[in-house]
Amino acid sequence: MTNLEFTSSSQQPNAQARDTVRVDLGARSYDILIGADLLRQAGSYIAPLLPRPKTVIVTDTNVAEAHLKTLQSALDGAGIDHASYLVPAGEASKNLSQLEKLCDWLLSQKIEREDCILALGGGVIGDLTGFAASILRRGTRFIQIPTTLLAQVDSSIGGKTAVNASLGKNLIGAFHQPDLVLADMDVLKTLPPRELRAGYAEIVKYGALSDLGFFDWLEANGEKVLALDTQSVAYAVAQSCRAKAAIVARDEREAGERALLNLGHTFGHAFEKITGYGEALLHGEAVAYGMVLAFAFSAHRGECDPQDAQRLRAHLEACGLPASMAQVGNGVFGVDALLDAMGQDKKVKAGKMRFILARALGDTYIADDVSAQALHPFLIAQGAHA
Ligand SMILES: NC(=O)c1ccc[n+]([C@@H]2O[C@H](COP(=O)([O-])OP(=O)(O)OC[C@H]3O[C@@H](n4cnc5c(N)ncnc54)[C@H](O)[C@@H]3O)[C@@H](O)[C@H]2O)c1
Ligand SMILES: [Zn+2]
Repeated sequence: MTNLEFTSSSQQPNAQARDTVRVDLGARSYDILIGADLLRQAGSYIAPLLPRPKTVIVTDTNVAEAHLKTLQSALDGAGIDHASYLVPAGEASKNLSQLEKLCDWLLSQKIEREDCILALGGGVIGDLTGFAASILRRGTRFIQIPTTLLAQVDSSIGGKTAVNASLGKNLIGAFHQPDLVLADMDVLKTLPPRELRAGYAEIVKYGALSDLGFFDWLEANGEKVLALDTQSVAYAVAQSCRAKAAIVARDEREAGERALLNLGHTFGHAFEKITGYGEALLHGEAVAYGMVLAFAFSAHRGECDPQDAQRLRAHLEACGLPASMAQVGNGVFGVDALLDAMGQDKKVKAGKMRFILARALGDTYIADDVSAQALHPFLIAQGAHA
């Protein structure tokens, strides 16, 4: 899985700035490179994957301002011809009309199936570009260069790509794996702190879901990760990628186990939906509070030690993430609106709500037996209005 030996998941790695995590998917396998200064050296990583010295970069307006020149110079240095396409920053760009414009532009650039499109940005750029790559000429290659912490630990890995539909988020998409992921720790330095914290929530997710040792490590080192200490953040990203890569390798299309990655998401999506998928509540913030609820509900069902639920809540709160309903949006949520939003979640199977619940920190499972009747009093006790 990795070319770097870690002593154990709960210890700081040996001093080394670069790590490789392999996503094992047979003919569709690829590497995630994690380390400092990767963008400046991107030319040497990308060149061997190109059939001819030509590529295109898709990015958003914010990322372009901070990092596009670095990537363009890296490609120049490797003798790779390139053109760039800028999408307005923000979730609103993940739609069908942007997709169509992007595909037209890619065709106008004469991108062939064997060429490799570069997605430079957060999850919005990765999802939009990945989906465009999946349908362009019935499938074109692409490389993820994730620039948000969330994209580095989650959206750039695993091959889910999509745009939003008017009826809901990520409803039009495809599975399409990238050929390489380049996760540069240095690009995170320009990320707004709130976006960084939101991405950190997804890192905590990997510990809470299956790795108590990693959760212990995060409790001790989370502050250093959020301060972007290179070694700490690289270790946290690598551990997260290892966890996701292992699950994706066993269950690429979410027939079973991959659903565990949705820990905190059924609850979280309900709050995102009600607050309008915007600035009021970022996805990672919703996931943070969603995980708090998943553990609290598991404790309420008598399946998990309340002290584990409390430990998770305390760590997220210490990291500046919402850990109570009062800290989410304007803090006012009706129980019926929440239940309604949960019932419409993509993870609903045959009318039954699907939740990831916990037996302990690091030990979670898929529960298909959760009813609205059981959730109702629990949500009221957590602060929802009757
Ligand atoms: N495909 C998957 O498996 C998967 C998983 C999780 C989330 N997602 C999707 O990811 C999206 C969210 O991703 P996100 O949180 O990265 O959002 P994003 O791409 O919108 O990035 C957040 C903000 O940060 C800016 N930004 C990005 N990198 C920056 C940098 N280095 N410096 C300064 N600013 C920077 C962006 O312009 C944007 O304003 C959602 O659409 C979600 O559905 C997909
Ligand atoms: Zn998520």
